[in-house]
Amino acid sequence: MPLLVGRRVLLIITGGIAAYKSLELIRRLREQGARVRCILTRGGEQFVTPLSVAALSEEKVFQDIFSLTDESEMGHIRLSREADLLVVAPASANVLARMAAGIADDLATTVLLATDKPVLVAPAMNVRMWEHPATRANMATLAARGVRRVGPAAGDLACGETGAGRMAEVADILAAIADMLAAKALLAGRRALVTSGPTHEPIDPVRFIANRSSGKQGHAIAAALARLGAEVTLVSGPVAIPDPPGVRTVRVESATDMLAACQAALPADVAVFAAAVADWRVAEPAAQKRKKQEGAPPPTLSLAPNPDILATVARLETGRPTLVVGFAAETENVLDNARAKRRRKGCDWIVANDVSTGTGTFGGDDNTVHLIGADEEEAWPPMTKEAVAERLAERIALRLEARR
Ligand code: CTP
Repeated sequence: MPLLVGRRVLLIITGGIAAYKSLELIRRLREQGARVRCILTRGGEQFVTPLSVAALSEEKVFQDIFSLTDESEMGHIRLSREADLLVVAPASANVLARMAAGIADDLATTVLLATDKPVLVAPAMNVRMWEHPATRANMATLAARGVRRVGPAAGDLACGETGAGRMAEVADILAAIADMLAAKALLAGRRALVTSGPTHEPIDPVRFIANRSSGKQGHAIAAALARLGAEVTLVSGPVAIPDPPGVRTVRVESATDMLAACQAALPADVAVFAAAVADWRVAEPAAQKRKKQEGAPPPTLSLAPNPDILATVARLETGRPTLVVGFAAETENVLDNARAKRRRKGCDWIVANDVSTGTGTFGGDDNTVHLIGADEEEAWPPMTKEAVAERLAERIALRLEARR
């Protein structure tokens, strides 16, 4: 499998002749399966065009903190939140100085000041600038704060001088990125099962009973677990969103099929049940399309209960995952109902969310949840489903680590 499947790199391209090499870096990162978003500074723009960066990354290029469209489509905080690693390549002497001083006077430096993600810099400048005590001091300050550096290499510089200052080769930057991301593989060697989306319960060959679940939360959890290095099987009902990268996705229709696919995916260290499984199915789906009968009353559907997939897995005598996590979609008495549901279903944690009308949770991008265990409860602030997924994946990694 490519090295960086599903990993998210935010690449900041600052001014320097080496910026052309960043285009190659984008291409190589994409080849390895990474998603690359780019910020192009004013200086960077002098050396490469936004169009080439957008074409290679297949993402919008972000340039201006004061652009209303940039900010409304993707706030600068989200740019960093939705990345696993920030890479500044080339990093000019100027950007290193502003980073060291905590100056935030453009989009790139604002994101760098606001981020809590790991940062890698690939300095590129004239040898005298690199060897200047100011740059040395700035680099030492950044290193002390945990900023990692690759290069610069020694050689002939664009300015005609010779010495250290050339941006590291793309292969070396790629290796440094892979190294930093692997260090976060908290779930390497772990197996995870995730359910997502709705189920479709057939009435006849053309009709079914379903619900409004989009699969966004479950898919985001599968992707987040994979980013931490887990081997993930995602069992998904019918959804309109793409399969997450780096995850084995098994598509099913009904609750009965979903249960069978989950059982086939075991054993697992952790199982997260985010699917909105239909509680009932049509007892006897018609083999042929049901036809209207002139003058006959509308048909009634006779329903049968579906298996409870979460409860079945949580109550396994042998082969129960170490950690079983359920979701509780509630519209009233959210916490009490969720606590009771956790005990009833026998899972370790339940993620409670309010799906009442007006919250926009079902089908939307945001979620406000509580994480409820036997002895612990956490109220998480409103955040995107991606952020919920990320935090949950980290909590799972910590719990499994504690039980290792
Ligand atoms: N679940 C499941 N199989 C079912 C029903 C639910 O695996 N047949 C799982 C869901 O994936 C979720 C949890 O159980 O993790 C709770 O789902 P929810 O719809 O909130 O609960 P229900 O059991 O359907 O209870 P109720 O509808 O009474 O609230």
